[in-house]
This record gives sequence, structure tokens and C-alpha cells, in this order.
Amino acid sequence: MLFTSVLRALPAALLFSGTQATPLDFESRQISIDAFITTQTTASINGVLANIGGGSKAPGVPAGIVVASPSRTNPDYWYTWTRDAALTYKALIERLVHGDTTLRQKVDDYVSSQAKLQGVTNPSGGPTTGGLGEPKFNVDMTQFTGAWGRPQRDGPPLRATALAIYANWLADNGNKTYAVNTVWPVIANDLAYAVQYWNQTGFDLWEEVNGSSFFTLAATHRALAEGAALATKLGQTCTGCATAAPQVLCFMQSFWTGSYIDSNINVNDGRTGKDANSLISSIHTFDPSAKCTDATFQPCSSRALANHKAVTDSFRSVYAINKGVAQGKAIAVGRYSEDVYYNGNPWYLTTLAAAEQLYSALYQWDKVGSITVDSVSLAFFQDLVPSVTAGTYAKGSATYTSITSAVKTYADGYIAIIQKYAPSNGGLAEQFDKSTGSPLSAVDLTWSYAAFLTATERRAGIVSPSWGENFNNLPPTSCTGTPACNAKITFNVRATTTFGDNIFVTGQLTQLGNWDPNSAKALSASQYTSSDPLWTTSIDLPASTVFEYKYIRKTSAGAVVWESDPNRRYTTSAGCGSSATVNDTWR
Ligand code: NOJ
Ligand code: NOJ
Repeated sequence: MLFTSVLRALPAALLFSGTQATPLDFESRQISIDAFITTQTTASINGVLANIGGGSKAPGVPAGIVVASPSRTNPDYWYTWTRDAALTYKALIERLVHGDTTLRQKVDDYVSSQAKLQGVTNPSGGPTTGGLGEPKFNVDMTQFTGAWGRPQRDGPPLRATALAIYANWLADNGNKTYAVNTVWPVIANDLAYAVQYWNQTGFDLWEEVNGSSFFTLAATHRALAEGAALATKLGQTCTGCATAAPQVLCFMQSFWTGSYIDSNINVNDGRTGKDANSLISSIHTFDPSAKCTDATFQPCSSRALANHKAVTDSFRSVYAINKGVAQGKAIAVGRYSEDVYYNGNPWYLTTLAAAEQLYSALYQWDKVGSITVDSVSLAFFQDLVPSVTAGTYAKGSATYTSITSAVKTYADGYIAIIQKYAPSNGGLAEQFDKSTGSPLSAVDLTWSYAAFLTATERRAGIVSPSWGENFNNLPPTSCTGTPACNAKITFNVRATTTFGDNIFVTGQLTQLGNWDPNSAKALSASQYTSSDPLWTTSIDLPASTVFEYKYIRKTSAGAVVWESDPNRRYTTSAGCGSSATVNDTWR
């Protein structure tokens, strides 16, 4: 105790070695980080428990209800979010499974509170008509009726996962009856929601973008896969889970750009898509029994590592506190670089997610017994070990050892960022200032504390049980039932017409009527002037698709006049929700 408080009292510059002028040697840095983790872990457990009904910062809140933060103004987070609560309880349930039985009552409180919340009709719908997608409720468990980005479809699968870990543990420890009668019904409701709604758009975890969010799909895939297995184990049925899971996995592949995960698709949000959304996805779907599978974006997969670099690098130049930090050294991480919420700052939980992915990858390499560096992941590895080349390096080899030691140091660097910018009382807010590093936005954010617990447990080699990734990592060769990946194409054609004429576009695509003049798409003359005879329309067409087309003119007498040959040819823009304009002149 004395030892750790002395360390806490050292100037931050001495403790923090990542980039400072006076780096600590390896051993002192480890001692410093280990000591910080010890004190911050206590502060984080206490921080989580204080914000749950009955806790010191959640007076009057029903048992099992997680308040996002005690902050009631600027911002008002005195609500219970299904996402925050589920991720928090996932961390608590993991601790229970690993032996902390003092948490048992709290977990049972969660089960009963969620059973009630699932029955609360709200602006997203009733209990079986979409209401489970409601993002947040008042802390007294009544509906929140204000305007909000709703629905958010990650809540039900996240809750199903937290409870599935609990139900599996109960069943393995002689309490199958309670698992079947009390926990399974709550899980079943959430899984039914996921089966019904996974292929519909909704708001992302940051509550801003209405489209398809990678995090929502990744959480859904995991929940459906483990839900199907749990149903079998408990002698129950999970209708549609086993058939939907591979389709969700299939759809997840379309978020991969070739070099990183585009976190939000099916929306034109004007962002790169490099977003901590994908880091949090990778740590949430981490399976300790998995290989480094690309299809499920496991933490040690080439895709997830390339994505880790792309996402973290996107924050290197946007925050003053990251300036001058060398490539390959840890930095403060936010939600996404274009963020303007509180002027856009780093968050504790996203910085911790960057660390957690790396610790999880280290765990996986150790189990797999080797590291494979390929063209997708090469740049990630070269930031840490510049001399590394593509190849597979067995555990025990010099290259394996230098990579794992560099990754461990890099991961610890993210913890050191938290150490540097967390106040000495261990309070974790939502954000820290991009220029000064001071805490910002909601104080005592429950999710920040939970993120600290899970990141440092992974560092200690303590992992969540397998969810069956090994049996659920093969996407079907073609997807069915997935949302369309469309690009919005604006057709502008300058065509001088006489009164009563109308211009249409038709061509090789179903959306353009397959060359049938009767099914051609009409253009609008609302912007037509004699000096600028513009006919225009915007049509959703499959992204990245080549097609031929022509404009046609239909006269008031019903005649169809085709443009002269040859057919026009166009390739739609890449990316679901992207857009482009073609400017043509009638010929
Ligand atoms: C509140 C949401 O919780 C936050 O995520 C979002 O950035 C802001 N509203 C602005 O939309
Ligand atoms: C805003 C965050 O963007 C969102 O993810 C979170 O659920 C709420 N705050 C509550 O913490």
C-alpha cells in the first residue's frame, strides 16, 4: 500500500515512459504499471459497483440497474443504457466465473431487472415489436420518451452474451434449472430480436449514425452463435439463430475495405470509417480458443491488426497530446477522428480497447504457437519490429520473441496513457482533453471502469470463456437476406425538350428497368431552364457495379425516342452508402 501510494505520488512524467525525454528502464516501467494497475483495479471495481442500484452513487436506483454515470447535467447520463449495462455486466460475470462469488447477487439482480425492462413499451416499440432496440431508459425503469438516436440494435445481443456466459456457468455448476427457468427466457427474447432485426439499419454505438454498424453485427454474430449452442445445452430452442448466424458473418465481410474495417456502411456519413467501433468489436468477439481468423476479425488476425494500426494512426495528428509520439508508440485514442462531441477528444474506454486487443492477440499467439505476418499485417508489425518480413514465426524463435515483447510494450503504452491522464483518485470520466489531458464530460463513467477491468484482465491472461468461434467462422460463399450494399447515383442529363416530353433513364440493371421503357426511371425537370436544360434524378444502385444505360424521351403522344448509340457505360462508386454524380448531354 505504502509502496503503491509512493509510486502514485511520483510526477507523471517520471512514471510515463512511452515518449518522454527520460524513459524509465524496462523493469521500473513494469513495476510502475503493475502498481498502477493494482490501485486502479480497486478504484474501477468500486467505480462500477457504486453506479449500480444500491451503490453509493446510484441512490434510489433499483437493484441490477446500471447507471451510465452519476452526472446529471453537462452531460446528463443519469439513465440506464442497455449497451453500457451489458458490457459492464459482462465484465462482472467474467469475474464471477473466475471465482468472485461475492458478485452472485448483483448478477441475479441484473437478470431480474432486465426481464422487467424487456417488458417496458417505449418509443422503439413493444416487447415483441422492436422495443428491445430502445437504447436507454430512465433509471427507475420507465421509458425515456425524448428525442434520441433509436433504435440501437447492439443492446439485445450484448445482453444475450453477458447472460449466456452466466447461464453456461450455472449449467456447468449444478444450477441448470435456474439457468433454464430464469436466465434463458431473457436471453431468448434478445436472440429473437436479433434474428428478426439484424439485417435492418439502426443507430451505431455512438448514437449518431443510422446505417449498418460493424459493432452491432459483430455482437449479433457472437450472440446468435453462442445462443444456438446454449439452447441445445439447456434443452431449449433458439428459432432462427443457427441459420441467421452465418448470414450475419457473411454480411460482416462487406465492412472490410481491404486495409481496414469501415465501421459504418449503408450510410453516407462523410467519414473514413476508421473508428474505435471496430476495436471494441474485436475485443468483444475475442475467443480464447480461436485461431487468428480473419473472417471473425479475431484480435490476432491480420485484418484486425491492420485495422488496429489504421484506427490508432487516425488519432496521431488530431490530438495535441499525441503530437511528437513516434509511430509504433501508444497514443490517446478517441471514438473516430472526425468526432465533434465535446470538440472531439480521446476516451479512456477506447484507449483501453486498443490495449485490450493487443493483450488478447498475445494470448492467442501463445495458444496457437506461432505468429504469421502477411502483406495485410506487415505494416502493423514493422511499426514495432522494423526488420520483420512476411512469414510464420514459431513460438521460441527469435522473431516470435521480439514481436511478442514489442507488442507487450506497445500495449502497456496504452495503459501508461491512462496512468498519465487518470486523476490520482482513480476516477475515470468519459473523455480526457485532447490538449491538456484533463478529464472531460461525464464523471465516473461505468463503462470506463469496466473497460479498465477487462483490458487489464487480458493482460494478466484472464479471458472470457469460448463462444464457439471455431465452429462459427466460415462465412457462406454468397450472402442472402443481407441489407443491400447500394451507392446513390445522381443522373444529370442536359436534354432540350418541348412541353409534354419527359426524360427517363433505363439500362442493364433491375433498378433501371432492364432496358424496358415501361420500367425506365423518370428524371425531374424541376431545375430545368432554357439556358440549362437539366433533367435529374438520384437512384440507389448496387455499389461497385458496371452497367450500360441510355436516356429515353417519351413524348406526350406516347412515342419513345432512344438516345443514339453506343450505350453509355458507368461503374457505380464503391462502398455501401457512397454516392456519385454522372453528368451527361443527350445525344
Ligand atoms: C449524445 C450521445 O450519447 C453521444 O454519443 C453523441 O455523440 C452526442 N449525443 C451527439 O450526437
Ligand atoms: C455516449 C456514448 O457514445 C454511448 O456509446 C454511450 O452508450 C452513452 N454515452 C452512455 O455512456
